[in-house]
Amino acid sequence: MVSVGIIGGTGYTGSELLRFLVNHPSFDVVFATSRSKEGVEIGEYIPSLRGLIEGEFVSPDSSLDADLVFTAVPHTKAMDYVPSLMERGMRVVDLSADYRLPFGVYENVYEKEHVDFGREAVYGLTEFNRNKIEKADLVANPGCYPTGAILSCLPVRDEADKIIFDSKSGISGAGAQPSSASHFPNLDGNINPYKVTKHRHQAEMKMILGSKTTSIYFTPHVIPAVRGILTTAHIFGCGTLDLEQKYMEYYRDDHFIRVYSDIPKLSSVRGSNYADIGCFAREDGDRIVIVSAIDNLVKGAAGQAIQNANIMMGLAEETGLKTPPLSP
Ligand SMILES: NC(=O)c1ccc[n+]([C@@H]2O[C@H](COP(=O)([O-])OP(=O)(O)OC[C@H]3O[C@@H](n4cnc5c(N)ncnc54)[C@H](OP(=O)(O)O)[C@@H]3O)[C@@H](O)[C@H]2O)c1
Repeated sequence: MVSVGIIGGTGYTGSELLRFLVNHPSFDVVFATSRSKEGVEIGEYIPSLRGLIEGEFVSPDSSLDADLVFTAVPHTKAMDYVPSLMERGMRVVDLSADYRLPFGVYENVYEKEHVDFGREAVYGLTEFNRNKIEKADLVANPGCYPTGAILSCLPVRDEADKIIFDSKSGISGAGAQPSSASHFPNLDGNINPYKVTKHRHQAEMKMILGSKTTSIYFTPHVIPAVRGILTTAHIFGCGTLDLEQKYMEYYRDDHFIRVYSDIPKLSSVRGSNYADIGCFAREDGDRIVIVSAIDNLVKGAAGQAIQNANIMMGLAEETGLKTPPLSP
């Protein structure tokens, strides 16, 4: 068995890691941390896991040891833990943004000095970097929006000259702390654009898809749903005629990418590690429209993190992740 730990076990992505890990045949959870719930039984704080997992949350400052650690804490906080975990020989999958971007870019985008300057990490979009992930000691798990957006365009990224992403996310993307944006009367019945032209995830999209000849634009919205991100990608300049065939071919060996001509739905991926990609409409020869659907907490966070950890540990990447989506 591989021993695994979680820094930030009470958060939405930490809880989702625990939900998948309780049934993982090769990973054994040896600790989950929380500062506010230290000493509380995991199953007492997360009632859906009652009877499925034993143990209490421990302080992140206690002496921790595992083969691999998932850091599921807010951005700018993971870099406080990663150096010492790695110095003690632990491999890390970081779910925060702290290791995703080149350092100069990170400091501009997140407006914080990086305290772990120069540490090498592999960007953990599994379908893009599988070979590098295998050998990595530190994997920077992608953001939830970039996961759905980049997957919708990877097969045509060399052809496109402009891509506009329009994404709609459930509110769990904002984490477990309530805010006025997540307050029910503000959310229900609304579709709220936010950080228009300024969302930090655009930098990740540009890092993978952008070039001198490809411009990337992104507008996020929050919708009155708990989970899921639906992204509509408007792609310009792509000449491929049989797009569906091209996508099918590109993702032929990827366990968690499902390509089909229908329009993907959040309800077809909820609770699962699948990314559904479809639509393939073309207008006036110049604009194509591709739609992707993921669960932000699974393929957009915890599921992809486990997929990467499986690869790092030499396991089949789908191990413990083949849970079918929840429907209806
Ligand atoms: N939510 C998503 O859909 C999503 C998707 C992809 C990536 N992410 C990223 O994943 C990370 C976690 O997101 P989340 O939604 O799970 O957040 P969350 O629900 O707010 O949970 C944060 C967790 O980190 C702990 N924590 C907070 N500050 C800490 C600190 N300074 N030191 C140690 N532990 C700390 C919290 O517990 P205590 O305060 O009790 O210690 C809690 O367990 C974030 O970086 C986020 O950007 C989130």
